[in-house]
Amino acid sequence: MSNGRSFYITTPIYYPSDLPHIGHGYTSVAVDTLARWHRQSGDDTWMLTGTDEHGQKMLRAAAANGVTPQEWVDRLVTQSWFPLLETLGVANDDFIRTTQARHEERVQQFVQALYDRGYIYAGEYEALYCVGCEEFKPEAEIVDGTGPFEGLKVCAIHSKPLELLQEKNYFFKLSEFQDRLLELYKTEPDFVRPDSARNEVVSFVKSGLKDLSISRSAFDWGIRVPWDDAHVIYVWVDALLNYATAVGYGTDPDQFARRWPAYHVVGKDILRFHAVIWPAMLMAAGLDVPRGVFAHGWLLVGGEKMSKSKLTGIAPTEITDVFGSDAYRFYFLSAIAFGQDGSFSWEDLSARYQAELANGFGNLASRTIAMIERYFEGIVPPAGHELTDADRAVKEVVRSAAADADAEIERFRIDGAIAAIWRIVDELNGYITLNEPWALAKDDARRERLGTVLYTAAEGLRALAVLLSPVMPVATEKLWIALGAAETLGRLQDQPLREAGEWGVLKPGTPVNGLSPLFPRVEQ
Ligand code: MSP
Repeated sequence: MSNGRSFYITTPIYYPSDLPHIGHGYTSVAVDTLARWHRQSGDDTWMLTGTDEHGQKMLRAAAANGVTPQEWVDRLVTQSWFPLLETLGVANDDFIRTTQARHEERVQQFVQALYDRGYIYAGEYEALYCVGCEEFKPEAEIVDGTGPFEGLKVCAIHSKPLELLQEKNYFFKLSEFQDRLLELYKTEPDFVRPDSARNEVVSFVKSGLKDLSISRSAFDWGIRVPWDDAHVIYVWVDALLNYATAVGYGTDPDQFARRWPAYHVVGKDILRFHAVIWPAMLMAAGLDVPRGVFAHGWLLVGGEKMSKSKLTGIAPTEITDVFGSDAYRFYFLSAIAFGQDGSFSWEDLSARYQAELANGFGNLASRTIAMIERYFEGIVPPAGHELTDADRAVKEVVRSAAADADAEIERFRIDGAIAAIWRIVDELNGYITLNEPWALAKDDARRERLGTVLYTAAEGLRALAVLLSPVMPVATEKLWIALGAAETLGRLQDQPLREAGEWGVLKPGTPVNGLSPLFPRVEQ
């Protein structure tokens, strides 16, 4: 069912130095939802995620646990990072680990190509480095420490002391790309989104770019510089290349041509790497720049960026064990404007679960199916010939909500898409209250009208199941089976998303199946 339109989307590759928290999960479910939407729309979709396994952070975490870095990453990736995908219902097409040969060899090939093209030179370096960020920090991100770090310079993000590094390094001539980058942001205004992120990147590049240190010689947990094995490649250069090596850069030209360029979704903390350094590296290699970079905000706990290192990290399973993976996905994707920061609280999560999922959507589905069972022996009735304004209004809301949701997804506004779809939930709940099918059922003369009302509700649910399947794959699958649609219309994930707003798809005469609550009561 592919329409030939390529859609390649990536998450950042995560540092498996520690356990995943809900911030990592947030990026992954957002990207998965976008990928599912495009896949189900017939776009030639590829979703990549993975782990960033080299660098000093990893080396130290392994040493602190008394194992080799390879043992450490193998353990964390298999015990925690692979299972996270299942916990959150993520349907990625590939998972890259930067310690895989398919990656390491191609990184060397890429860096060698930049060297051969004259974009790399050797130099001396002295600067303040943050191991948490794996980055030499610019002036603006260095602040004075407080408490135990009083008198020291600390990283503005991690609040931990910076380390003064002095080394002979290889440098990438990033400064040469300032004009071409500014030209890119100008000619492709959507290259960096949202606007706030774009403005930040443009002013950063306008303020002048320094060449980038791209090798380290003080430790050896990394990929060797091909022409000088006393150095390993800087972990960020290694990491960014995953997006290319995973789709056949240097090994499979057909696959690379089919997939590349990608859309990258990243947290705003790592925007510059993706919107400045990465496109410059690609320009230097003579490859296409990404199609776009979307920066989302941070999950805040107690007003601060949630993080393991600050001990504010919450494990995704703490939420999914209680509320399920669909609720996790729905909550973070609907409650936070994609692109802005959002505060997490258990109270807000429970309140939305109860109001929007259990009472709003879940109850609508249970009531409708139960009434079809009760009044029509479990067979979807036909709509009568006479339609009221209320029936036509439902049809119109379904049409416009589906179109608006698709437009929002095109702009990476997942929250906007869910808000558009939720107009259908609200409309149908109001429609049922207004039309009182339980009262119509008492009057034989109004049986046709009763049929119309229940068909309208069931057909609205059919559209909801399709439109919400990228966000809540588990609950919508249950609903799809309850509607009996699996037998007559085929698999849910095969329903074309861009046609979800068409009316009259569910066939009258379809037998429905009993539905247990989509979002069961949660004990507080
Ligand atoms: N390994 C690098 C990325 C390399 S990509 C070529 C890295 N890893 S990370 O594990 O520290 O973070 C990865 C991503 O996790 C962040 O960009 C962001 O998308 C997500 N988040 C981590 N903490 C977060 C919050 N508190 N809130 C929202 N997202 C967060 O950086």
